[in-house]
Amino acid sequence: MFQKIAQTQTPIIDPLALRWSGRAYDANRPVESEKRLALLEAARWAPSCFGYQPWRFLMWHRSEESQAWRRAFECLAESNQSWAGHAPLLMLACADTQFADGRPNRWCQYDTGAAVMSLSAQATALGLMVHQMGGFDAKKIRNEFAIPESFDCLAMITIGYQLPREQVPEELQERELAPRSRRELAESFFEGAWEQSAS
Ligand SMILES: Cc1cc2nc3c(=O)[nH]c(=O)nc-3n(C[C@H](O)[C@H](O)[C@H](O)COP(=O)(O)O)c2cc1C
Repeated sequence: MFQKIAQTQTPIIDPLALRWSGRAYDANRPVESEKRLALLEAARWAPSCFGYQPWRFLMWHRSEESQAWRRAFECLAESNQSWAGHAPLLMLACADTQFADGRPNRWCQYDTGAAVMSLSAQATALGLMVHQMGGFDAKKIRNEFAIPESFDCLAMITIGYQLPREQVPEELQERELAPRSRRELAESFFEGAWEQSAS
């Protein structure tokens, strides 16, 4: 295991500091069922507008449901297929775009993102790695798995254990070892007025 800890001006909690989107998964190490359950519980307890919980997650296990897993895997962009095939768990995060009375829920994506982030933090705390992907064919996966039109297919997600540094395949090494970066705090966080940097 190797870390790419967030460089922060003051310490932040481990599940956030240690989370990063790696691509080198250990294909021989499945995610234990109790850990999988903990991930779902973490997502389930995310906040949502009116407590509506617009998220839905569809999961595929590479080993247990290999046919369905393959159909889902083939919806990924080629650039993602090149590494995501080793992750033992593949997920799709969807959002219900309508409230029960048919009104549009304009917070559904926001809420679903919060649920995925909760899942990601829980995964990090359990020693797992999560990688979200926008690179997939949303139309294709909707058709393959009969996902209702009122749900947005937002992101595919891989989950599993990381490979030790010395086993990272050569073609992934550059990206896996590259440092992580973020904009400066002052560029994204304002105080009192738009673009007035927080002190
Ligand atoms: C909605 C979303 C879509 C993403 N799509 C892809 C993707 O298709 N392929 C990929 O390799 N990474 C994807 N990523 C991962 C981002 O590139 C990554 O989160 C970002 O570079 C920050 O790196 P970090 O997560 O390690 O901090 C996606 C992340 C998010 C949140």
